[in-house]
Amino acid sequence: MTQSPQLSLFARRAAGQAIGDLMKVGVEHPDCLSLAAGFVDESGLPADLIRSSVCRILNGPDRQAVLQYGTTPGTAAVRSVFLRHLARLEDNPDVDRLSPDRIVLTTGSQQLLCLLTQALFEPGDICLVAAPTYFVYLGVLEAVGARVIPVPTDEDGLHPDGLEQTLQRLDAQGDLPRVRLVYAVSYYDNPAGVSIAANRREQIVRIVCRWADRCPVRLLEDAAYRELHYDGPELNSLWSYDESGQNVILTQTFSKSFSPGLRVGFSVLPDDLVRPVCDLKANEDFGSPRFSQAIMADVLEQGSAYADHVQQIRNRYRIRRDAMLAAADEYFSSMDGVSWRKPDGGLYVWMTLPESVQTGFDSPLFTHAVEACRVIYVPGELCYPSTWNERPANRMRLSFGVLPPEQIREGMRRLAQAVRDILEQSA
Ligand SMILES: Cc1ncc(COP(=O)(O)O)c(C=O)c1O
Repeated sequence: MTQSPQLSLFARRAAGQAIGDLMKVGVEHPDCLSLAAGFVDESGLPADLIRSSVCRILNGPDRQAVLQYGTTPGTAAVRSVFLRHLARLEDNPDVDRLSPDRIVLTTGSQQLLCLLTQALFEPGDICLVAAPTYFVYLGVLEAVGARVIPVPTDEDGLHPDGLEQTLQRLDAQGDLPRVRLVYAVSYYDNPAGVSIAANRREQIVRIVCRWADRCPVRLLEDAAYRELHYDGPELNSLWSYDESGQNVILTQTFSKSFSPGLRVGFSVLPDDLVRPVCDLKANEDFGSPRFSQAIMADVLEQGSAYADHVQQIRNRYRIRRDAMLAAADEYFSSMDGVSWRKPDGGLYVWMTLPESVQTGFDSPLFTHAVEACRVIYVPGELCYPSTWNERPANRMRLSFGVLPPEQIREGMRRLAQAVRDILEQSA
């Protein structure tokens, strides 16, 4: 499709988002099993809890206030409830004593990612990311003209030495003043299911704090999957290691643990960023849906209702994750050069294929998987900066969030068939 010449540079930079292509493939091939969709398990969504909450709210003293406009960062009462929730997640009652003024409620955490990026970046400014990372955020960075630089990453997440060396290299090149952000999906990340290991967390924060004395760098901790923990160690947030509270931005969402349809996210910002983010937000919507926020706050105030729900969905997702891993063992383990790891939480398994098998939208594998084998996955190359020459072309993101276990198994069987066919064709 040709672009209208009237489009702004910002709109032109935002063109061609991969998420749209993926959704199109899904819609055009309804008979495909989708291991691509990043949706949550619809059958586990808390309709009953939300119905009770809506009744309570609409029968209560605030029944009209919640239908009114609110304030840009969200009402103080809801921010205080979310702060208490964060104190529970952090297992630290002091968090509850933070000023609610540092909390900003957004339309999902995605909106915070966009607003913060708009607040911090001029074209050519630098964001350091894990490789691979959340591909929708790569699109946000591209839209503001950011230079996105991958930091060495392994099965324990972002590598502290790699981060230090990357910053040293940028310093030597004279690019240090342009470094604005280190972006990290700290728990069971999207796409690789990797968490930053416990023994790296404090180190990473210390590195950012030290360099922050010399350049305007901050750490953006995206904790979207934090509550989807199935096994493995409990991990402290990166944010908890930022003693001053001014170097790490923490963004959280109720999309994964409760309901993405409510679109409720919240973030803790350093003092100096609250105003700029709220000013940008005021231009956009002067406040996210107050009714959704009231529902979320009400649910959190109902004793153990929220915790019980999260426990239930963890149990369901653990079964699905295990179904995917068992199917990977069953169908892929006999193929040379194929590997994957067990994630301790989240919604994704990241699979590496032999070097010779490309996974991109235009690859023979993608076409064959969709058209002949009827299965969709997310091409791994979307999850690396598009300007990075070394980005691997043989990875896939496989989601276990949406399909029930028997369909996950069938999807994996079809995918293995597709890979085997391509390997045979190229032999
Ligand atoms: C890593 C990550 N961050 C942020 C988001 C945004 O989610 P939401 O806007 O629903 O909070 C997502 C959604 O999939 C995600 O995977």
